[in-house]
Amino acid sequence: MNLADKNILVVGGATGIGHAAASVCAAHGGNVIVADQNETAGRPASAAIGALFVSVNVADEASVRRMFDTIAARYDHLDVLIHTAGVLRGAFVPVAEFPLETWQTVMDINVTGSFLCAKYAMPLIKKAGRGVIILVSSVAATGVSSSVAYGSSKGSVSSLGVTLANKLAPDNIRVNVVHPGGIKTEMKLSVIGREAELHGQSAQQAIAQAAAGTELGEPEGVGKILAWLASDEADYVRGFLTTR
Ligand SMILES: NC(=O)c1ccc[n+]([C@@H]2O[C@H](COP(=O)([O-])OP(=O)(O)OC[C@H]3O[C@@H](n4cnc5c(N)ncnc54)[C@H](O)[C@@H]3O)[C@@H](O)[C@H]2O)c1
Repeated sequence: MNLADKNILVVGGATGIGHAAASVCAAHGGNVIVADQNETAGRPASAAIGALFVSVNVADEASVRRMFDTIAARYDHLDVLIHTAGVLRGAFVPVAEFPLETWQTVMDINVTGSFLCAKYAMPLIKKAGRGVIILVSSVAATGVSSSVAYGSSKGSVSSLGVTLANKLAPDNIRVNVVHPGGIKTEMKLSVIGREAELHGQSAQQAIAQAAAGTELGEPEGVGKILAWLASDEADYVRGFLTTR
């Protein structure tokens, strides 16, 4: 896979799947920019792979606009947007007790964040004359989720991807949506810990077991697919792609 000379923005690239994608992109010659709310993890992780780090809260329109202003000051154009930022809140909370505030936070970050990043990436991608947008949804979009808000938000992210693909094809912009399964990241492992607690078991032990086992995939596995989708080799891929 050749990503030489491609300017690639990985939103949510401080940790987990996003960081794995940013690392693979950088290793294959991409000029990588990592954007994330988590500066503590994001700055050193970006420096280690030679990526520029930009702080952003994807749920805040002014913050997203500022991030793209920062990028526009450094880069002439953007070739690829990989959007992995997301949160899972409200796992195992019954529907009747699910707080509206939690629902809104999840929707703001997962859905509105994906929309805002795609929206404000547009001028810089259009300057390249062609481009790629990759949204990270989840198998929870069409399957089972521990959180009513998370599952619903990922269904919306997938639909957003289909809509964007249709609207942006005339601009030579390919939009793909990736649906990962269970992957060993902080997000997934904390849900496993919570589930164990609800069953009166030790969260720490359940997390350690899941992290050591093979049932969950590694972030690098999805990272490689995201990087490949960013490349010209994936030009003929349309729509969704499901991973383990
Ligand atoms: N781990 C899994 O099993 C799994 C499965 C399916 C889908 N996903 C999706 O993959 C993506 C990456 O998740 P992960 O598992 O690597 O978890 P993660 O928590 O390691 O990564 C999420 C990243 O998003 C960032 N983020 C959260 N809110 C933000 C905000 N408001 N503004 C900017 N950045 C923000 C976090 O700081 C973090 O770096 C998410 O969209 C998640 O829903 C994960």
